Amino acid sequence: MVRDIVIYPNEILKKPTEKVDVIDKEVQNLIRDMFETMYNAEGVGLAANQIGVPLSVMVIDTSPKEDAPPLKLVLINPEIESGEGKIKYKEGCLSFPGLSVEVERYEKVKVKALNEHGEPVELTLEGFPAIVFQHELDHLKGITFVDRLKGWRRRMALEKYRKLLKERA
Ligand code: NI
Repeated sequence: MVRDIVIYPNEILKKPTEKVDVIDKEVQNLIRDMFETMYNAEGVGLAANQIGVPLSVMVIDTSPKEDAPPLKLVLINPEIESGEGKIKYKEGCLSFPGLSVEVERYEKVKVKALNEHGEPVELTLEGFPAIVFQHELDHLKGITFVDRLKGWRRRMALEKYRKLLKERA
C-alpha cells in the first residue's frame, strides 16, 4: 500500500526513531509499504519516519539511477561502523518536495544492520549508495539534509523551501 509521505517541518522528522525489537508481520508490512511508497514517489531511499512510523527501518533501491550500481537494501537498526573520504552531492528528499541542496558526506562507509529476516549484516557502501544510506540514516536520527548546512546556506535553503511550499499550496 502506498502511504502518505510526511513533509517537512512535520515534527516526526525531527525526532530520533526507535530500534526494532522483533521483526514481526507488522514490520514486514511496513517494509513492503515503504518500497511501494518510495517507487511511487520515484525515490531511491526512504526512512520509516517519512511515512509516520518512528522505527529504525530504511529501504534503498538505487536501480533507477543509471550511473550507479543497482542495489536494493532493507536495513533495520542501521549504524555506521566507520567512514572515510569526503564526497559532495546535490541531494533531494521526498520530505522536501522540489528542494535540492549540496551536502558533504563520507565517500565510503562500513555499515552494520539487520536485514528483513533479522539476520545481522555488515556491508561497505561507496559513492552514490553511501550517500543515500547516510541521508536515510540521518532521517532515522531525526536529522534532515538542511540540518547538515550551516549559517547562511541553511537559511537560504529553508527560505527557498518555504517559497516552494507556498507555490504548492
Ligand atoms: Ni530524505
